[in-house]
This record gives sequence, C-alpha cells and structure tokens, in this order.
Amino acid sequence: MTITKVWRAAVDGDAAVLAGQLEEAAALLSEGHLVAFPTETVYGLGADARNTKAVEGIFRAKGRPSDNPLIVHIADERQLGELVLPYPELARRLMKELWPGPLTIVLPVRPEAVSPLVTAGLSTVGVRMPDHPAALALIRQSGCPVAAPSANRSGRPSPTLAEHVLEDLDGKISGVVDGGATGVGLESTVIELPDSDTIRILRPGGITAEQLQSAAPEATIDAPASAKSEITEAPRSPGMKYTHYAPEGDLTIVQGHDPSEVTRYIQEQINATKASHLKTGVLVFDERRTAYEADLVLTYGSELHLEQAAHRLYAALRRFDAEGVQLIWAEGCSEEGIGLALMNRLAKAAGHQIVRI
Ligand code: TXA
Ligand code: MG
Repeated sequence: MTITKVWRAAVDGDAAVLAGQLEEAAALLSEGHLVAFPTETVYGLGADARNTKAVEGIFRAKGRPSDNPLIVHIADERQLGELVLPYPELARRLMKELWPGPLTIVLPVRPEAVSPLVTAGLSTVGVRMPDHPAALALIRQSGCPVAAPSANRSGRPSPTLAEHVLEDLDGKISGVVDGGATGVGLESTVIELPDSDTIRILRPGGITAEQLQSAAPEATIDAPASAKSEITEAPRSPGMKYTHYAPEGDLTIVQGHDPSEVTRYIQEQINATKASHLKTGVLVFDERRTAYEADLVLTYGSELHLEQAAHRLYAALRRFDAEGVQLIWAEGCSEEGIGLALMNRLAKAAGHQIVRI
C-alpha cells in the first residue's frame, strides 16, 4: 500500500507558484512513480513513457488489459521530434490549429523512443498536447514524455475530479495533482491519417468532426456515422472493444425523435419496476426533468448545451453508484458536434443497451 499524496494546483494563478506546487509531483514522475494529473478532458494517470517498470505500474493500478496502448502527453515540439518519425503535412496542420487541445494523433513511432508497453507492440504511438496549465507544467518540469490513460480503474467512468481518482486509485499511486474539475469532461478525439488527405476518427471526443474539417478544409473526414455503427466494425483503436465507463447499475439509453415519447417510455419502465423495490434513477435533460418520478433524477443540463452534458456525464454515472441506484435510464441526444462523443460514451456505459423509439 502506497500513501497517495494530493497536491493542490492553482490553475489560474502565477506560473512560478504552480511550478512550486508541482515540484514533488514532477520529481516523483521522473523517478518512475505514478502521478495522476488534470487535463482539459479528464484526469490522466501518468508515468514516464520511456520507463517500462513505471508503465507496467499503470496497467497494474488500473487493472487494464495490456493490449490497449497508451496516449503519450507532451508539452512542446521538441518532445514530439524525440517520439515520432517524420510525419505528414496534414498532421502538422492539425497540430498547429488544434494543439494544445483534446486531439490525439496516431503517428509512426520512433524505434525505442517509448516502452513497448506504451504502444502495445504497434508501430505507431498516439500523441497529444493537453490544453491545461498544470498538465503542461508537470510534463515540462518532469522532463518526461508522459504516458497517461484516464485515471480510473479499468471499466469505470473516467475521473473529472481529483476525488474520483482517489475513489478508484487511493493507495495504489504516488499522488494526484488536484486542479479542480476538468473542462471538456470526455476524452480526447483519437485520429489516424491513413493517407495524405484523410482524417480517420478512431474515437470521437473533445474535438468534433466539424472542428477537424475547418482546421483542414481540403481533407476528407472518415468518422463513425453514429455511436451505434462503430460496434459493428472491427475495432481499429484497440481500446474501443472493451466495456468502458460503466456504472454498477443496469443502464439503458433511450433515444427517439419525439422527446415526449422518450419520457413516456422511460416512466413506464420505472413504474413497471415499482413492485421489485429496486432503486431507480434517470439522467435527463433539464427541459423534461420535472416529468420524471424516480428515486434519483440527475440532469445533463439543457439539451441546447451538449458541452455541459459532456462535462457532467461521468460525475453523474459515478453518483448513481454512490447512491446505490440499480436501474438507470438515460435520455439519448443528437449526434451532432460533441453529441457524437457523448452518445459514444453513453452507448459503451450501457453495454450498447439502446432502445430506439
Ligand atoms: O483525453 C484523453 O485522451 C485522456 C487524457 C488523460 O489525456 N486519456 C485517455 O486515455 O483517454 P485512454 O488510455 O483511456 O484511451 C486511449 C485510447 C484508447 O482507445 C487506445 O486504444 C487509443 O487511444 N490508442 C492509443 N494509442 C493508439 C495507437 N497507437 N493506435 C490506435 N489507437 C491508440
Ligand atoms: Mg480510459
């Protein structure tokens, strides 16, 4: 059992103050220890990507299958040059427009640049530059390329608060940098570039297909048409085949064109379980929250602001667990913009239990 330290990081303060707050965390990271830290998407569990022992620790702490590669986080261009082989102009363009930011680009890895555990034996590595002052300062101060998956036990919802990290990993990691709530709330978009003018989205996330298109107007975007279509395809991004983000209760997504039909369907299901005395919960948009009667009613915020729903999703899923809710229904949403990533995570959290009405 390790004592897990917590370092509070003032993320909108002075750079020198932040550097002081991160000193111990950066030193531990560079010595091969595991340190969780905030990014603009979710909290990551970091280790020196070059140190196989350290990276092994990530898989052990998370209970993560070893065939699922890790994203490497960098703070500047010099670090990128050390990690990857020469890459296409399209990649350069996307980095210029969208980094730092929630975009992971899969690029050809420079041999021996990272531990083989990071790439899970692939000839590529996923790289991103996070848009978060504490993450960038920690990477810079440690001097390491930082391999970091989301800082949750494998299969659980990703952490959007330092408290979520402690819920899952207290006693298993050296520490967590507490920078408060993360912004986006869903993970980065993972892309690969199969040819000089195609962007293939392997995992929808914080950067939308629309944003990729406007950063590279001449490129063709190859995106999963909907959260549902992705499951019928062979997983190209190894992580896509595992159950993820799931609450302990049984979750069903209900999606439909007519919101009042969705509400009616969900309420009927809840009413039908009354005799069983199971604890029920719903996750719904503000517009209809008063129409529901369940043991726990949580909201995404307004359906006009799907960014807010993305920001709140994982905390809501964890709340159902904390309250012991056994049966959960969630309203689905449009798959436009960030809605594609939101529906992707919801579908996985529900084990693809989706009712379309
Ligand atoms: O926002 C994020 O991306 C967060 C924060 C911490 O940066 N990280 C994160 O990592 O979500 P993780 O390990 O939970 O998800 C990484 C995803 C997996 O689906 C994995 O299969 C894919 O990226 N991936 C990593 N390297 C890859 C590669 N070389 N080729 C294809 N997919 C890759
Ligand atoms: Mg994850």
